[in-house]
Amino acid sequence: MSEPRSLVAGNWKMNGVAESIAELNQLNSLLASGGTCNCDVMICPPYTLLNSFVEAEGSVLIGAQDCHANKSGAHTGDISATMIKDCGATHVIVGHSERRADHGETSENVSAKASAAIAENLGAIVCVGETEAERDAGQTLDVVLDQVKKSVPSEAAASDVIIAYEPVWAIGTGRTPTTGDVEEVHKAIREQLVSRFGDEGNSIAILYGGSVKPANAEELMAVPNVNGALVGGASLKAADFNGIIDAYRK
Ligand code: PGA
Repeated sequence: MSEPRSLVAGNWKMNGVAESIAELNQLNSLLASGGTCNCDVMICPPYTLLNSFVEAEGSVLIGAQDCHANKSGAHTGDISATMIKDCGATHVIVGHSERRADHGETSENVSAKASAAIAENLGAIVCVGETEAERDAGQTLDVVLDQVKKSVPSEAAASDVIIAYEPVWAIGTGRTPTTGDVEEVHKAIREQLVSRFGDEGNSIAILYGGSVKPANAEELMAVPNVNGALVGGASLKAADFNGIIDAYRK
């Protein structure tokens, strides 16, 4: 059985200007001096910073936060996976709950975006997660498993995708599910991936996201089938983000 490589990814959302490269440089030096770290580390800055971040010295991987499903064309304001690849990024987040909520993206849209990413050899970080109302109604597993099923495109290989489970109500709120709740959802996602991809499904990283901080990272990252984190607010400062990465240092 192949173990997933863990990943701690920072999603900067609509934050960051040219001088923010200082945080990336600091993060790269903290990684260089911080001892062996048993995970990959990624920053997903806004599109405007992709190029300069890719050119920075260091081990931090660079991803984008979204892509259009088409390669090019009349889509004012959109960015294609082809363009992201051209910038030198290696991954792209698709289906973040803020995209699903703010831009009405369905799992079918997310699947089309993931397909575009995969066609460019970009790793697709596919986000799923229930709202608070769905959790209260006892629909968490149904909602999350339906999103995974429909958002991961049919042609995807296990090596093309990373799943990020992010309860919508935990994003940016300081609230997190119990470790038992996280374990239950990650286990259900793992079972679905194995039933779809066979043993290869065991090699897909399943990240947890939603109010991950240095103070709770170790506990959350120790949950079975949690193979890393997708971090918003606490990824903006290199020192905080490094405190989360500590969960993967011995
Ligand atoms: P948060 O965001 O860490 O600020 O809660 C997580 C995310 O949206 O990926």
